[in-house]
Amino acid sequence: MTQDELKQAVDQAAVDYIKPHLEDDSIIGVGTGSTANCFIDALAEIKHTFDGAVASSDATAERLKGHGIPVYDLNEAGTLEFYIDGADETNDHLQLIKGGGAALTREKIVAACSKQFVCIADDSKWVDILGTFPLPVEVIPMARSYVAREIVALGGDPVYRQGVVTDNGNVILDVHNLKIQSATELEERLNAIVGVVTNGLFACRPADVLLMGTSEGVKTVKAS
Ligand code: 5RP
Repeated sequence: MTQDELKQAVDQAAVDYIKPHLEDDSIIGVGTGSTANCFIDALAEIKHTFDGAVASSDATAERLKGHGIPVYDLNEAGTLEFYIDGADETNDHLQLIKGGGAALTREKIVAACSKQFVCIADDSKWVDILGTFPLPVEVIPMARSYVAREIVALGGDPVYRQGVVTDNGNVILDVHNLKIQSATELEERLNAIVGVVTNGLFACRPADVLLMGTSEGVKTVKAS
């Protein structure tokens, strides 16, 4: 199976997973990235069965609207039934690294507001220990150098993602060479650095279920 076929299988599985729970007034959270894009395309097929969506990025909002799916402000929507999003890495606790698409902060906010976080990914994202994928950290621009020095002191190797400005007007440091033994501890530690908006560890609030595309089909994985 190609990567695109794996994505399509996973995204259809996500639609099938949420569909029985959707009602006319349901609003769902939708993530960002190529897997999430493919999910949005599949979601459009059942758009008459729910009210609308909250988007985790401007790009996702545009894609949803392009399919005629109403997009709500999170402040109007309240608690969401589901958040569906991809990941850059996942471990068996369904703790994730996210932010490859620089949307980590809004993704984390929408995930926090959702009853169930459904992660959609193929098995290339599965790792024993998080950290091979450089950990994205969203930073207030004036604090970039300070935050980078603090991250070096923690043993990381931060690289400024040149030319990228997030939807919130901030910059991204991608942190290499982290061996993430305790993901919750590191998530909290990085977020405590002044100038950090948030980091791409989704460990304090991990995914609830992973729909993982494999060559043998889509597996439903719950946290161990
Ligand atoms: C964007 C993200 C994405 O979910 C992550 O980068 C995975 O993307 P893709 O589905 O394209 O592999 O966190 O900020």
